[in-house]
Amino acid sequence: MNQSRYILTASFVLLAAWSLFWVSEKVAQTAALNQPAPAVATATAAPAANAPAAKAAALPGKAVFAQNCAACHSLDKNLTGPALAGFTGRGPWSDRKKVYAWVHNPAAFMAKDAYTKDLQKQYGAVMMAFPQLSEKDIDQIVEYIEAAGS
Ligand code: HEC
Repeated sequence: MNQSRYILTASFVLLAAWSLFWVSEKVAQTAALNQPAPAVATATAAPAANAPAAKAAALPGKAVFAQNCAACHSLDKNLTGPALAGFTGRGPWSDRKKVYAWVHNPAAFMAKDAYTKDLQKQYGAVMMAFPQLSEKDIDQIVEYIEAAGS
């Protein structure tokens, strides 16, 4: 008799403890759901507007472009050579292999390509060759131009 009363009391205590725990869990969840979300949303909105420029500045191609190409090319102005923003949408440049061939040896490329021969008539000089740049270097330059010029 004593033993079954003991078991009953113990079960009751366990049940009471469990429901207390359950209720406090629910309270904590509701409190978390009621956190003011708009403050977080406005804090992240401002940096997002500058993200493309910040992303371009962080790319390795920025330095490769500055060292090798910026003497004659800007992204948005024609200088000694044409502005390069959006250049992959012009002429033969959607084909990356042709961009490699051009940068490695513009004179040889131009001998077989009417588009660049026409450019040379407009700009006067033949672009200098960069045989030392690897395909990876050129990929990085293109990636930078596309990120910065869009
Ligand atoms: C010494 C000046 C000079 C340098 C340095 C130079 N370019 Fe050029 N680039 C030109 C000129 C000039 C043209 C126009 C075609 C011609 O006359 O050869 C041109 C044309 C181009 C074009 C074709 C643009 C179009 O509108 O279709 C691309 C792409 C290009 N250059 C990429 C590069 C890259 C990438 C570099 C750096 C690795 C570079 N250039 C460095 C002078 C230069």
